[in-house]
Amino acid sequence: MRVSSLLHYGLQVPDVSRGGRFYEDFGLSVTERGKGLAVRCDGQDLDRTLLLEGPDKRLHHVAFGVAPGALPEMQRRLEGLGVRLEDAPSDEVEGGLWLRDPDGNRITIREESPSLPCPAAAPPMNVPGDYRRLGEARWLTADVPARPRRLGHVLIFSSDVARSERFYGRVLGLGVSDRVPGVVTFMNCGPGDHHVFGLVQSTHPGLHHSSWEVGSVDEMVLGARNLAERGSELSWGLGRHTFGSNLFHYIRDPWGSWAEYFLDMDQITADWAPRDWQDVPTAVWCPLRPAEFTENLEPAP
Ligand SMILES: [Fe+2]
Repeated sequence: MRVSSLLHYGLQVPDVSRGGRFYEDFGLSVTERGKGLAVRCDGQDLDRTLLLEGPDKRLHHVAFGVAPGALPEMQRRLEGLGVRLEDAPSDEVEGGLWLRDPDGNRITIREESPSLPCPAAAPPMNVPGDYRRLGEARWLTADVPARPRRLGHVLIFSSDVARSERFYGRVLGLGVSDRVPGVVTFMNCGPGDHHVFGLVQSTHPGLHHSSWEVGSVDEMVLGARNLAERGSELSWGLGRHTFGSNLFHYIRDPWGSWAEYFLDMDQITADWAPRDWQDVPTAVWCPLRPAEFTENLEPAP
């Protein structure tokens, strides 16, 4: 048995309003939730980020889903593995099962299933020998604000990637998609996105980035430009990643984690075989990667 989806992540921040403005500018819907804020994608009845008040910025928890009715079976599995379960940490995030990973990160498992977003209705792209967009001036409709359709994945820092990978595989049932041993591991929930979760080696835990699917390259670039105009100084993109192959554009949030627009992620099948790699760059093509991309600015526990 394994978790079937990534649901959301919780972020403790010292200024909830500032965090809310960042996610709104990113293209998401933000509503009040107790003393914090809940972040959602248009048309999806599901929290994707919870911003919680706290003295400093740090990853608060990561939430994974199981099918409705499957939580008791998951609880029996965890107890059989000797995993210690905890109470929910606050009123803002009630319910579900709660446990800790080897770095002390809170993990919650909940009976929720994200629905797929409506298919993107972007006009077809004219490609060599296949010209489907006829009689339409594309530039007149290309200038649209970024509106992410779903949260695709999160990558977190780990003080010991191999140890964390074993935990997420053994306890949550996540599969390895690709890894650079000792550096980074990309993990999946089975057929679907190449990765819904990942681990990046660091000195201590933290959120590296969250990644949000948009409908077109235009949205990715326009979203990044919009955030730059509103004061987000660091970004990285446009590029195409190696592992997962997705197009990407990253913007740094007010506290040093990254939010990624993505498109065209590899979809893996049940017979996907994990592979170890060495000396593979982060991207097939991209602008120069900022040195800050792998910085972990969260305070050590
Ligand atoms: Fe990503």
